[in-house]
Amino acid sequence: MEENTDLFEKIINLTKRRGFVYPSSEIYGGFGGVYDYGPMGVLLANNIKNHWWKIMVQKRQDIVGLDSSIFMSPKIWMASGHVGGFSDPLMENKKTHERVRADHILEDIGVIADEKMSIDEINNLLVSNKDALKEKGINIDDYTPAKKFNLLVESNLGNFTDNNDEPVYLRGETCQGIYVNYKNVFDTTNVKMPFGIAQIGKAFRNEIAARQFIFRTREFEQMEMQYFVKPDIEMSEYEKLKQYRWDALISLGLKPENLKWHKHDNLVFYAKEAYDIEFKYPFGFKELEGIHARGNYDLTQHQNHSGQKLEYFDEETKEHFIPHIIESSIGVGRLFLAVLCQSYTEEAVGDETRIVLKIPKNIAPIQVAILPLSKKEELSTPANKLFQDLSDYFMCQYDETQSIGKRYRRQDEIGTPYCITYDFDSINDNAVTVRDRDTMEQERIPVSELVNYLQAKFK
Ligand code: GAP
Repeated sequence: MEENTDLFEKIINLTKRRGFVYPSSEIYGGFGGVYDYGPMGVLLANNIKNHWWKIMVQKRQDIVGLDSSIFMSPKIWMASGHVGGFSDPLMENKKTHERVRADHILEDIGVIADEKMSIDEINNLLVSNKDALKEKGINIDDYTPAKKFNLLVESNLGNFTDNNDEPVYLRGETCQGIYVNYKNVFDTTNVKMPFGIAQIGKAFRNEIAARQFIFRTREFEQMEMQYFVKPDIEMSEYEKLKQYRWDALISLGLKPENLKWHKHDNLVFYAKEAYDIEFKYPFGFKELEGIHARGNYDLTQHQNHSGQKLEYFDEETKEHFIPHIIESSIGVGRLFLAVLCQSYTEEAVGDETRIVLKIPKNIAPIQVAILPLSKKEELSTPANKLFQDLSDYFMCQYDETQSIGKRYRRQDEIGTPYCITYDFDSINDNAVTVRDRDTMEQERIPVSELVNYLQAKFK
């Protein structure tokens, strides 16, 4: 698919202009690969996370939550295979020192270098596709040969000497904190196999080429659920989880035509099956969420490395076994970006272009804006009271600056579903005008009925 660079630029500009996303450390010239979420961004991200938590924990009797730490014993990352094998193929421009991912530049010419390939095989692919790469502006003679670059981010936590203590890592994925707590959860709650543990938290990766805005960053948040099952039902539960996660994305408000399945053809050796749900970003269909059947690899590794028994005892069959794991894993930033890309709309209204973010109403950062027609006290006092009353039920914003037209446009750009105008008639008829973001239609509603009216709209 052709990249829609223009649309993507517009979306990035809007996120900055309206306080969704800021580049990190901007006053110091920026800091690559990390972003800050502004006042609108944090509201949208929280709504996305709450929706995920509701679907994955609140509505499930068989899934419980966890919040494990970012720092963990480095032994965990040895056992998981990250210290030895969590790497991407890095090439560096000999003159400019620009770093690129060999698999990405190959992907740009339609050649897939999968995770199982050795570095020699990738270098051979680069050589055999030298001409096609040149046509795309990459002369591989200007670059060093590809080498493996480990993605774990090291820290010096607890390292008080100069003699190179074992490094401690910032976690590269949240699920390892789930695996190492699986016994704790099982021993301290009433869960019975099959059961799941869900977690939302930060993860860190030394991405070689952080790119496409918040799509690929070095610090990001993951929402992961690991489901522990008896080996014989792994694949049937996997199919159920795939369907469940697809339905969850639809219930959040993503349109089915913007989503598609992508099956991994070359699996890591322990995986039984792996699918991504891809979203149609302006730069093409790309991975939004991964759903993987991981067999008993993770718990076996942690059992072997820790020396602790991680078997499950089935009371009914009197069997001991290491549970198999199926997982769903999605980045908050990627889902946030998907919501923004799907919502960004430009509409002609008279001679003007209206920019409106048609964010699914239930996850819009601001649900209701209260806009008194004038700043005069006779309107601002009751309008402020209305803000206080409604903010018991909804996330509201009060705005009395500029003309009402400009205020509507501002609310459209942050995706506020309903704007309430308190005007001079409101003083006498105790009613207000409610404007719908998508249709721009306006209705006169008595103040006494507002909460019920709006609650019905958000249902
Ligand atoms: N535990 C499995 C795991 O971490 P992954 O495919 O590496 O699998 C899962 O990552 C999800 O995390 C991805 O589908 C994506 O949504 C998100 N993700 C991964 N790397 C990311 C990055 N550098 N920036 C933003 N999101 C990322």
